[in-house]
Amino acid sequence: MSALPSAAPIVYRAMRIEDLDRVCEIEQRIYAFPWTRGNFADSLIARYHCTVMACETSIIGYAVLTTGAGEAHLLNLSIDAPQQGNGHGRALLLQQIDLARGQGARLLLLEVRPSNVVARGLYRDLGFQQITVRRGYYPDHGGREDALLLALPL
Ligand SMILES: CC(C)(COP(=O)(O)OP(=O)(O)OC[C@H]1O[C@@H](n2cnc3c(N)ncnc32)[C@H](O)[C@@H]1OP(=O)(O)O)[C@@H](O)C(=O)NCCC(=O)NCCS
Repeated sequence: MSALPSAAPIVYRAMRIEDLDRVCEIEQRIYAFPWTRGNFADSLIARYHCTVMACETSIIGYAVLTTGAGEAHLLNLSIDAPQQGNGHGRALLLQQIDLARGQGARLLLLEVRPSNVVARGLYRDLGFQQITVRRGYYPDHGGREDALLLALPL
């Protein structure tokens, strides 16, 4: 899917097991090291906050958030490739910030690759600050890549 019906509303709803074919299709398209179907299934079983962003019936993005002890951790934030750069990532992140606040979190944490210029620009824009570097956190071609741990006070 590349074009969205211009007037169609964007909706957010809980991810379901039936969504995983489409979610995994997107995941494999947009990441060099995608989450597996099992990672998403485990997140559903663990009752993490798994959200899909949809336009009419088409899923265009999704997010996975955990909350507890006054903190939230955004584990996945993804927009399908043809829909990137249209403000959907920002909208989904704002929805996740609201969700985290609504769950009583006072801090939102996430990891990002230093090489992920687009995501880092979005996080910086919304006020996230780097609090540390997790060395060798991510798999990478021929080695490991660090993660920047970012935080946003809520
Ligand atoms: C990162 C991601 C969620 C952002 O969503 P998006 O819909 O593409 O981004 P948006 O259109 O909402 O843009 C939000 C901001 O991101 C930054 N951005 C977007 N496209 C950019 C580009 N090509 N270059 C640099 N910054 C860019 C800008 O700060 C932009 O704000 P602006 O439009 O006011 O300039 C999305 O691109 C994605 O899913 N990427 C692949 C998966 C991923 O990297 N997830 C995050 C893992 S930590």
